[in-house]
Amino acid sequence: MAKHTVKTIQAMRDNNETITMLTAYDYPTAKKVNDAGIDMILVGDSCAMVVHGHPNTLTATMDMMVLHCGSVARACDRTMVVADMPFGSFQYSIEETMRNAARFVTEAKVDAVKFEATPNHIEKTEAIVQMGIPVVGHVGLHPQAVGALGGLKVQGKDMDSARKVVSEALALQEAGAYCIIFEAVPEKLSTYVTEKLDIPTISIGGGPGCSGQLLVTPDVLGMYDNFTPGFAKQYRKFGEEMIATFKEYKEEVLTGKFPAPEHCYKMSEEVLEQIKKEFD
Ligand code: KIV
Repeated sequence: MAKHTVKTIQAMRDNNETITMLTAYDYPTAKKVNDAGIDMILVGDSCAMVVHGHPNTLTATMDMMVLHCGSVARACDRTMVVADMPFGSFQYSIEETMRNAARFVTEAKVDAVKFEATPNHIEKTEAIVQMGIPVVGHVGLHPQAVGALGGLKVQGKDMDSARKVVSEALALQEAGAYCIIFEAVPEKLSTYVTEKLDIPTISIGGGPGCSGQLLVTPDVLGMYDNFTPGFAKQYRKFGEEMIATFKEYKEEVLTGKFPAPEHCYKMSEEVLEQIKKEFD
């Protein structure tokens, strides 16, 4: 199957086919996500937490994200790869935002960029779209605003914040975003906005009424337990499986079971004897 594009993702939404999306940050995981037939990958700035062990996403940098995005993009011949613009990469000026978006396309070869755009960033969305780079919007909970929000909390429950979710989504569509992520938003609100919009919506804690679903892969695999949001679902316990595997390896090394003869390289007795003669 050919690689997903803005057009195929829009066609899925128009044909009522549910879009699947996961995060990935490295080549081997992205390859498995691609081979499993997942439609889109977000190389999220969540990598600051789930890969680098920071307490929030604010420490992700452009260099860090470009490096991870390149590894993911090289693994994907089918899945559409979206780069998450880190904190500080799109706040200062339109020109700097455009340069940073361009780095993701030229250096990492991703297919699209996403940023936590508030109403202050609508012009930046338009500018990136006009450069020819597809943009994914992100409404509801903005983890980069964790300080201002006082924590990673559900958004859109009261009038002010619900109005913000609806108006930002409409403005992002108007600015040319091809898809919008709804994070930690009451399901009735994201369903309402999904029905109002002409572009696909992707839920991560936005309920089943969106055009697609997104989860953070280390949550899905049971590989990250420092923080588990209420919307996450763990499908496997790979973390436990890894610990068991490493313990087994240690046990085999200590007992001499590993390495076995099949893990060792052979040489002729003749060469060995000659070497011993030379060095003894
Ligand atoms: O960084 C990330 O993984 C994200 C999703 C939670 C939407 O931005």
